[in-house]
Amino acid sequence: MTATAETPLVPDLAALQQRAAQRAAERAGGQDRLRGHIVCDGLVRIFKTEGVEVVALQGLDLVIDRGELVAIVGASGSGKSTLLNILSGLDTPTAGIARVADYDLLSLSAKRRLSYRRELVGFVWQQTGRNLLPYLTALENVELPMELAGKRGRKARRERARELLDLVGVGYCADRRPGQLSGGEQQRCAVAVAVANDPEVLFADEPTGELDEATGAEVFTALRTINAELGVTIVVVTHDHAVATQVRRTVAIRDGRTSSEVRRTARIGEDGSTELVSEEYAVLDRTGRMQLPAAFVDALSLRDRVRLDLEPDHVQVRPGDRASDGREARS
Ligand SMILES: Nc1ncnc2c1ncn2[C@@H]1O[C@H](COP(=O)(O)OP(=O)(O)O)[C@@H](O)[C@H]1O
Ligand SMILES: [Mg+2]
Repeated sequence: MTATAETPLVPDLAALQQRAAQRAAERAGGQDRLRGHIVCDGLVRIFKTEGVEVVALQGLDLVIDRGELVAIVGASGSGKSTLLNILSGLDTPTAGIARVADYDLLSLSAKRRLSYRRELVGFVWQQTGRNLLPYLTALENVELPMELAGKRGRKARRERARELLDLVGVGYCADRRPGQLSGGEQQRCAVAVAVANDPEVLFADEPTGELDEATGAEVFTALRTINAELGVTIVVVTHDHAVATQVRRTVAIRDGRTSSEVRRTARIGEDGSTELVSEEYAVLDRTGRMQLPAAFVDALSLRDRVRLDLEPDHVQVRPGDRASDGREARS
């Protein structure tokens, strides 16, 4: 829809994405296995409380490739947490398709759900206190999930925990307890804990919600690094538009549906400098439906019906009122 240039706040997003895709392909056994790591199609979640129905997701469509890092934004109550809870196996959808890797999230047996949550998924919560055990040091917190999984020896666990803490930039916090860490340091440790057992996907629900902007940016840097170095697919919910500009792809949710997407690409300007260009797209679902941005609808006072005209390379949308509709005006 629109393209705007931004100051490049960020390291080369394209290079990071390429690296993440390469790592993800190595893990998955080839480039051709990158498509559709996470697929939602017409996803519906209805909550029933005391006879009242709330449709939290009303036919949401979303495809995320292996090794992608995607930010999800949207007003409070738009269905972001509901989506993340479903994708992480904590909640079950009412209808539609939700698939992650080879797991069909609508028909998981209890046993398979458990293995999905243990082996495939990592999660970071908004509340810093929910991510770490207060009586363990940062290093012990990262070691714990590996110990519970019982897959690595003591020495290997310690080594990996140190590596992960270094990767997210808090190696110096290894021997401190959560109470001795800042909110940002805690959330970066939480990222290390969440990927300790090498999950394929990492979900984070407003991990920067309790942090100021600068500290939030550090957490995003940690997520980008983990994405690029481990090839983990990452979906992060945020209401912070400033940090959302630090990822290549941002998906907006409105009323339980994906409404628009922003993609950022680097472009070499005429003077040879690199600039980051944002392009906003509307999301088209399988049956050809899309949502017009509220600002466009308001600007032309569009309501009820619009006129569509197919041009050689685009589609025109015009108000469908009587004055502009020749046939209706004559009849
Ligand atoms: N367990 C639940 N029971 C009833 N309604 C719920 C429940 N969870 C979420 N909702 C409702 O679903 C809608 C979407 O909520 P949520 O996914 O938490 O939004 P967001 O995370 O975008 O703020 C809201 O109207 C919310 O009140
Ligand atoms: Mg939420």
